[in-house]
Amino acid sequence: MNYRHGYHAGNVGDVLKHLVLTLVLAHLRAKAKPFVVVDTHAGAGAHDLTGPEAIRTGEWKDGIGRLLGAAAAPDAVRPYLAYVRGWRPDGDTTGGRWYPGSPMIARAALRPGDRLVAVEAHPPTQALLARHLGRAKGVHSRLGDGYQALTALLPPPERRGLVLIDPSFESRTEFADMALALRRAHRRFATGHYMLWYPIKAPGLVESFHQSLMDAAIPRILRVALTVRSTTVANGMAGAGLILVNPPWRLDETLAAVLPWLARHLTQANDGNADIADADGRWHVDWLRGEETV
Ligand SMILES: C[S@@+](CC[C@H](N)C(=O)[O-])C[C@H]1O[C@@H](n2cnc3c(N)ncnc32)[C@H](O)[C@@H]1O
Repeated sequence: MNYRHGYHAGNVGDVLKHLVLTLVLAHLRAKAKPFVVVDTHAGAGAHDLTGPEAIRTGEWKDGIGRLLGAAAAPDAVRPYLAYVRGWRPDGDTTGGRWYPGSPMIARAALRPGDRLVAVEAHPPTQALLARHLGRAKGVHSRLGDGYQALTALLPPPERRGLVLIDPSFESRTEFADMALALRRAHRRFATGHYMLWYPIKAPGLVESFHQSLMDAAIPRILRVALTVRSTTVANGMAGAGLILVNPPWRLDETLAAVLPWLARHLTQANDGNADIADADGRWHVDWLRGEETV
């Protein structure tokens, strides 16, 4: 396991994922009934954008770096930006410029009675995660395989919650592993909200992943995707996508209104991108299964 999220923290993929995460969490908080968040690939939870990993790639500058100073963000984006702006780990005195990971965003949304279970397989990263999460009632960090953990964790006693699956894509079988994990988890907890993150790289890979999901007996699947560079010229990631199972009511409409703004700010214009807009446009919010196309 060589992947370290610190190289990618705050990039376009994180922005899309964490923005949608804040919206799903807000939906969960809208009802008094307790919920659980299971973060199967949690990472360290906190990333210093002035640290050596972030400096080496500078990816955050084309992600959150473009949004922090943006004027007139849409209403749905504002809570995410407000949270990220000035965020730092508890007790931090480094003076670094920090970006929060998914477990910290989830932790911030918990109320008394809600729970977070954050799973991380890389021992040093999990040690950092445990430190950043700290000791609080209902907040648990675990060392282990996030896919396997789902079997023990689902269905949750709350019968209400979100499973975030955000792997590092080091394995060639990651798309298949993710699809299998979703099918199994959905059989155990069919009413849960699920968010699966994936990178957009070579064309074709994502399509077969989508097809495998459409073939599964899962009735409501929304795809949200943002491409900021051409897949033909991009070296590495051209964009990112999310699969949302049982997305909150009208989240599709909210995202369809917000994605053009994100695309406008995040598209890397000087990169031979003429073809991004050709195929199907730079962003998608559409149903792979169920509901109607937005
Ligand atoms: C993309 S990063 C997670 C980022 C995090 N979810 C966030 O949004 O801040 C993926 C993480 O998964 C960890 N990982 C890789 N394979 C895993 C597995 N099978 N189970 C749990 N964690 C795993 C990696 O060490 C890495 O920290």
